[in-house]
Amino acid sequence: MAVRLRLRIPLRAFDTSLGKLGLDYLDLYVLHWPVPSTFEATAASYRAAEKLLAEGRVRAIGVCNHNPAHLRALTEQTEVVPAVNQVELNPYFVQPEVRQADAGYGIVTQSWSPLGGVNVYWDGGRNKAKNPLDYPTVGEIAARYGKTPAQVILRWHLEHGLSTIPKSVKAHRIAENFDIFDFTLTDGEVASIDAVDTGVRGGPDPDGARHSSYSDS
Ligand SMILES: NC(=O)c1ccc[n+]([C@@H]2O[C@H](COP(=O)([O-])OP(=O)(O)OC[C@H]3O[C@@H](n4cnc5c(N)ncnc54)[C@H](OP(=O)(O)O)[C@@H]3O)[C@@H](O)[C@H]2O)c1
Repeated sequence: MAVRLRLRIPLRAFDTSLGKLGLDYLDLYVLHWPVPSTFEATAASYRAAEKLLAEGRVRAIGVCNHNPAHLRALTEQTEVVPAVNQVELNPYFVQPEVRQADAGYGIVTQSWSPLGGVNVYWDGGRNKAKNPLDYPTVGEIAARYGKTPAQVILRWHLEHGLSTIPKSVKAHRIAENFDIFDFTLTDGEVASIDAVDTGVRGGPDPDGARHSSYSDS
């Protein structure tokens, strides 16, 4: 019963999402969080994603917020290596261990809050010291290339081979965030942005994630 439920719930959620989007298939379908306290629930949801992949309803599957231990557990319990691991990653939190683990599995690391959004949402951007867009080194590099700080940070992600998903509700910023393919950063510039790293995440720690809707009964 529990096994069937664990497959049925994520499959029903997928149908709901696809219906809302009005699409026949998705290019990429990712699990939002691992559940370290009951990792079997994570593996079960991922198996549902594997089923969707086998049926052609998604083109690729992946995970979010998986640290190296989660990736090890997942790959031991499932068949398809995730295409993507989407994690908090910006100049203030550069996730070297996760990137190394992802690379070892051939997984693309995808940066959420790539501009550091998670650091500024809570205080409306008032604490400038927590906003990578306000970091002087980033501003200096931006002025050098006639680009904006956001463009420099997004280019920094690309120089590291990261996939990145900046979010904006403003059309002109969405266009700005795409316009990063006409310049490159030097190794020294990349290193100077790497140096911004604090090792402190802005969002929740994936090891603390809990699941409320699964039951083992
Ligand atoms: N998998 C996960 O667990 C997870 C967790 C968090 C977020 N995400 C996803 O990651 C994506 C991005 O993350 P995020 O929204 O947290 O952070 P973000 O993209 O780093 O930052 C978004 C913030 O930056 C501003 N912004 C965007 N472009 C800008 C530009 N060119 N210049 C100046 N400011 C700019 C936005 O304001 P305006 O909108 O006003 O332009 C918004 O306040 C979202 O799609 C989100 O759903 C995933």
